[in-house]
Amino acid sequence: MRTLQLADKTVPVIGQGTWHMGEDRHQRQAEVSALELGIDLGLTLIDTAEMYGEGGAEEVVGEAIAGKRDQVTLVSKVYPHNASRKGVAAACERSLQRLKTDFIDLYLLHWPGSYPLEETVEAFERLREAGKIGRWGVSNFDVSDMLELSAFASSSGCATNQVLYNPEERGVEYDLMPWMQNAAMPLMAYCPIGQAGKLLSNRAILEVAERHDATAAQISLAWVLRQDGVIAIPKAVDPHHLELNAAAGGIELSLDDERLIDTSWPAPQHKKRLAMV
Ligand SMILES: NC(=O)c1ccc[n+]([C@@H]2O[C@H](COP(=O)([O-])OP(=O)(O)OC[C@H]3O[C@@H](n4cnc5c(N)ncnc54)[C@H](OP(=O)(O)O)[C@@H]3O)[C@@H](O)[C@H]2O)c1
Repeated sequence: MRTLQLADKTVPVIGQGTWHMGEDRHQRQAEVSALELGIDLGLTLIDTAEMYGEGGAEEVVGEAIAGKRDQVTLVSKVYPHNASRKGVAAACERSLQRLKTDFIDLYLLHWPGSYPLEETVEAFERLREAGKIGRWGVSNFDVSDMLELSAFASSSGCATNQVLYNPEERGVEYDLMPWMQNAAMPLMAYCPIGQAGKLLSNRAILEVAERHDATAAQISLAWVLRQDGVIAIPKAVDPHHLELNAAAGGIELSLDDERLIDTSWPAPQHKKRLAMV
């Protein structure tokens, strides 16, 4: 599996998402086991948020990483409505308790909110100084938001921007991705397999999958990861899905494969508003 530098750590380019985990107690053991299997398969970057299951997902993660915290790079996110000076500190403390750890490697603002960004960044920096987080970053920030941020935070301060990116949603290629590449800032791609929706029955994706003796989901992951500086965080509870996702790190698409996928979803030729789910 390829790796890259994120939040001062070497991480695999494929991690594990956790949205919708921790919502149903009957699913809890399967979710814990899935994250444990993922770690064993090398998917040691885990993405969660206080929002997911209103803390439930962080609890699932806490259970899965017990005894193996050192193997894992942990990413969590604060709600924009908690992103005040005091709110960030309190939210982080609650997340640490649910995660049963004393340290979050990377702490993100989940999406732009109404508190002044400068105040949120100051709160992140305080958490960093206190040794509660390693680095901070943002999510769902478009270029204009990144420019606002860079007016007072050095580009080396913000460790990443986590955004929607998959073959169906490639608007970021027009401006945000080049901006981030220029700032040497890794992009975390969420919904990298389109939430297992229509993408998986797309004709072009299926044809490329056949060429590589792979599945549609694996081709979507390989496509997201075809450029340097990108990390994909698919969420999977089914153990077979986890094995397939880990193996997708070894698939390299040809230019011909990419051209075929372009016929379904061409590269953007003009600015599009940042897509979000
Ligand atoms: N920052 C943000 O605003 C934001 C927004 C959305 C998501 N995220 C993060 O990004 C993560 C990924 O996004 P997502 O969960 O929305 O969507 P996703 O990862 O694109 O899709 C998840 C769905 O795909 C299925 N799946 C996983 N691997 C598969 C495979 N190999 N073959 C077929 N199906 C497969 C999963 O099923 P099973 O679970 O049954 O295996 C699940 O139904 C989230 O979990 C979350 O951590 C962040």
